[in-house]
Amino acid sequence: MNAPRFFIPGSSMPGPASARPEPDAPALSQARSVAAVLAETQVESVLQELDEELVGLASVKARIRDIAALLVIAKLRLNFGLAAQAPSLHMCFTGNPGTGKTTVAGRMATILHRLGYIRKGHVVSVTRDDLVGQYIGHTAPKTREVIKRAMGGVLFIDEAYYLYRPENERDYGQEAIEILLQMMENHRDDLVVILAGYEDRMDIFFQSNPGMRSRIAHHLEFPDYSAEELMQIAQTMLTEANYRFGPGAQEAFAQYLELRLTQPQFANARSVRNALDRMRLRQASRLFADPHRELSASELTTLAPADILASRLFSNNKEGASHAASPGL
Ligand SMILES: Nc1ncnc2c1ncn2[C@@H]1O[C@H](COP(=O)(O)OP(=O)(O)O)[C@@H](O)[C@H]1O
Ligand SMILES: [Mg+2]
Repeated sequence: MNAPRFFIPGSSMPGPASARPEPDAPALSQARSVAAVLAETQVESVLQELDEELVGLASVKARIRDIAALLVIAKLRLNFGLAAQAPSLHMCFTGNPGTGKTTVAGRMATILHRLGYIRKGHVVSVTRDDLVGQYIGHTAPKTREVIKRAMGGVLFIDEAYYLYRPENERDYGQEAIEILLQMMENHRDDLVVILAGYEDRMDIFFQSNPGMRSRIAHHLEFPDYSAEELMQIAQTMLTEANYRFGPGAQEAFAQYLELRLTQPQFANARSVRNALDRMRLRQASRLFADPHRELSASELTTLAPADILASRLFSNNKEGASHAASPGL
């Protein structure tokens, strides 16, 4: 069978890019229903995993469903022979640190890959330093090398606004932006760029870089997690690592969260992960301190209130306001 490939952007944009073989892209089917496309690409399972494994993020999940719907319908349109412009898939994820942007970018790459929009579905995650050189002539090759690595996947640029430094007259960031803009346009059938960072800084960045703004088709906002969601995230992380809160430990962790939420360096789910790592360390030290005791599996997997309450956050708090500015541990 000489079936055309299910690779919508490439097939709707004849040119050198579409002449390349796309070995990993799923073959074009003759699907005529949404269900058929979903079954064939197994996108539904990624969407379901996203729903189940990530706590909260209702608005983000809904937007991802919308984007998936758009792409599935585009595939059906292609199957019906309806001309389609390559959909622009570049995105912007805004939100505070630890709100799930990097995690969701990975899921998005899987969805785009399963639907055949990108050949490989990998994520190349970079920041300014990976793209911009220190000296004249260094930036273009650096940026091109990164883009080359990202081809067929997602280029995730964290804190993308640092590329633009207007206060610095001889800044090479602008050069990286120019190359990116060009690649985002010319290789939109093979490269999806996701810019991530704080919302306010991203807004300012877009004001100064209208070319970038106009190339971003989807803006997703990642809200801060509520205390309840952070607790749920903690439970998820513990279960994954085969740990659990022992009697009273969840209450202690709720207290911990309440204090930690008000700290200046609070980073949502990332702070939860780091806190749990420290609590596991304390649990290990506690068990280590009694070397001759025979341990049970239950003891090895259980965090006790003491493992949590030993956090400096509690002693800082007792000592009063003078320590309030230091990030709590
Ligand atoms: N909704 C969520 N449910 C479960 N874990 C989450 C969630 N959001 C973030 N995490 C976890 O928190 C950590 C930080 O998330 P990350 O995606 O790196 O955030 P960001 O890129 O926005 O800083 C990761 O370990 C991730 O697995
Ligand atoms: Mg991140």
